[in-house]
Amino acid sequence: KEYTAEAEAFSTQSKEELEAFRIKFLGKKGVLNDFFAEFKNVPNEQKKEFGQVVNILKNAAQDKVAQIQEALESKEEAKGVYGDLTRPGEPFTVGSRHPISIVKNQVIDIFSNIGFNVSEGPEIEDDWHNFTALNLPEYHPARDMQDTFFIQTNPDVLLRTHTSSVQVRYMENNKPPIRTISPGRVFRNEAISARSHCIFHQVEGLYIDEGVSFADLKQTLLYFTKEMFGKSKIRLRPSYFPFTEPSAEVDIYWGLKTETDYRITKGTGWLEIMGCGMVDPNVLKNCGIDDTKYNGFAFGMGIERMAMLLYGISDIRMFYENDVRFLEQFKASI
Ligand code: PHE
Repeated sequence: KEYTAEAEAFSTQSKEELEAFRIKFLGKKGVLNDFFAEFKNVPNEQKKEFGQVVNILKNAAQDKVAQIQEALESKEEAKGVYGDLTRPGEPFTVGSRHPISIVKNQVIDIFSNIGFNVSEGPEIEDDWHNFTALNLPEYHPARDMQDTFFIQTNPDVLLRTHTSSVQVRYMENNKPPIRTISPGRVFRNEAISARSHCIFHQVEGLYIDEGVSFADLKQTLLYFTKEMFGKSKIRLRPSYFPFTEPSAEVDIYWGLKTETDYRITKGTGWLEIMGCGMVDPNVLKNCGIDDTKYNGFAFGMGIERMAMLLYGISDIRMFYENDVRFLEQFKASI
């Protein structure tokens, strides 16, 4: 009897067969119940042994049923996943690049085409690299412009307020000719609103060689604005930065075709897009570069601002909230 059960159990292929097996051996009118019914006819001295054997059989049959049931289930599961190719596929969601990365990569591509490399530096800076080397000595009033987050004072350790600090590090460690852009995250202690945030991103550029002129600067920026925005008209307005002399603010002519153009340019058609200037000889000296032999230009722009213009984003806070409904709109972009 036990052998029959084993053999039948072994050949069980489906749920139906398993159920038939269960009824045959464990059901009300099953083989095992027949044995139990037989119990009363067994001589007393054999009752103990008989009972034990029947119980062993019953347990074995129950274990077998459970075991086969499990095997059948996992077999069916496997069939579901691998066997039935007409089943709809599992949804597979592809992520998208963050708009700040998209714009940053565009800027890197445009400048790498004209020989600029990419340099990076620490977000936590010392006073020298963020201020002093950049012609902003202690007590210089222009330090107030930068709304600095200090981590430690005396000696000062701070969150960099611009990526000009990377340019200082680059000049300290490399000899001219230098053509480098420094993208990165910067920090300023400003009130958070739709238009400004205490964290944002910049790309700054530095070009140092012999006999560099202001015209070189202007043509480089014109090339950039054409590539980046498809706009071919720029103007430079005199401005002030401690590390450049002369300094200028760069506006691009955005146009006045749509209502948005009117709004973002305040009706002038012009948009301020970056700061720039000829590197102050003091800065070169501070960074170990011979200012009698070399000169150059620098420029700096905000990545969020560019992304807002390119994608029509009206609130800078959206960049940092990681709301998927915002982020997934950039799937089509590179
Ligand atoms: N570092 C300046 C800023 O953060 C930008 C700038 C860079 C201006 C280089 C001129 C030259 O605002």
